[in-house]
Amino acid sequence: MAEVIDGKSVAADVVSKVKALTAELSAKGATRPGLAVVIVGEDPASQVYVASKSRTAKECGFHSLQHTLPAETTEEQLLKTIGDLNADPSIHGILVQLPLPGHIDAGKVIQTIAPEKDVDGFHFINVGKLGTGELETAFVPCTPAGSMLLIQRVRGKDLSGLNAVVVGRSNIVGKPMANLLLAANCTVTIAHSRTKDLPALARTADILVAAVGRPEMIKGDWVKPGATVIDVGINRIPAPEKGEGKSRLVGDVVYAEAAAVAGAITPVPGGVGPMTIAMLMANTVASAYLAAGLKRPSF
Ligand SMILES: NC(=O)c1ccc[n+]([C@@H]2O[C@H](COP(=O)([O-])OP(=O)(O)OC[C@H]3O[C@@H](n4cnc5c(N)ncnc54)[C@H](OP(=O)(O)O)[C@@H]3O)[C@@H](O)[C@H]2O)c1
Repeated sequence: MAEVIDGKSVAADVVSKVKALTAELSAKGATRPGLAVVIVGEDPASQVYVASKSRTAKECGFHSLQHTLPAETTEEQLLKTIGDLNADPSIHGILVQLPLPGHIDAGKVIQTIAPEKDVDGFHFINVGKLGTGELETAFVPCTPAGSMLLIQRVRGKDLSGLNAVVVGRSNIVGKPMANLLLAANCTVTIAHSRTKDLPALARTADILVAAVGRPEMIKGDWVKPGATVIDVGINRIPAPEKGEGKSRLVGDVVYAEAAAVAGAITPVPGGVGPMTIAMLMANTVASAYLAAGLKRPSF
């Protein structure tokens, strides 16, 4: 049976380290880390995410600011809010919760965030830094950054000689994940919906990352014996066995089948999921260290 990679415990370690780094920063007389979360409209799922981010920021000892703007906010008004936050020295991280209402150009909004405050890592400057291996100063998107920490817990920091297959090529998960694995010396293949014979390709992977968004698509016999399997997918499916109208979360991998073959695997929930917010805190404290002219802490 595979080792179960406990994302909750690794995320808790990251948050404890962020708390300690925040205390050290205050002891040095520097400004404490400030995180601004901006949400437009009333999407219930977004509100839950934002509340959770703000709560963890407070727990870390950050200055935590939340801008809740009405759905009818214009693009101009939102850009003005971002401009104000860019200029505010008490803010080190700016996060705009996606999706934005249809009348606002999300790309334009993200590119307006100052790259040194772009703790989501979506600004072209940060994407470019990751792509060129400038990891010392890049902000890396939180979900792949968290997935990478989980991989390192099992495999160490240098992944030389290992084959990695990333299934999914989104800008938020698949592509940055592939770049991180490449920077750690893996031989990387990115698969997507046009890939031929995905099962055979997946079986070549020492590290298999699933970021597809299709419930239990990846079967146990797609997994190479001993592989590290990172399941990024979060899919809600009906669970009539729990009662009428009930549902449950599953990943992109058939967990029980894959766990019988893999060397290590992340569960869903409790694997990659908790890492995302933890890495947002890590990026924000790193930004505060850089703003204070101090060495960036590593995680
Ligand atoms: N905190 C977290 O843990 C976290 C954060 C972000 C996302 N997620 C989850 O991760 C999953 C992926 O998210 P995302 O934002 O990357 O999704 P996305 O933007 O929808 O991208 C999905 C990718 O999967 C590929 N794909 C779809 N069907 C496929 C198939 N049959 N075979 C091979 N590849 C296929 C797509 O290929 P094409 O490009 O060819 O269409 C695309 O590149 C979702 O379940 C999401 O909920 C979790």
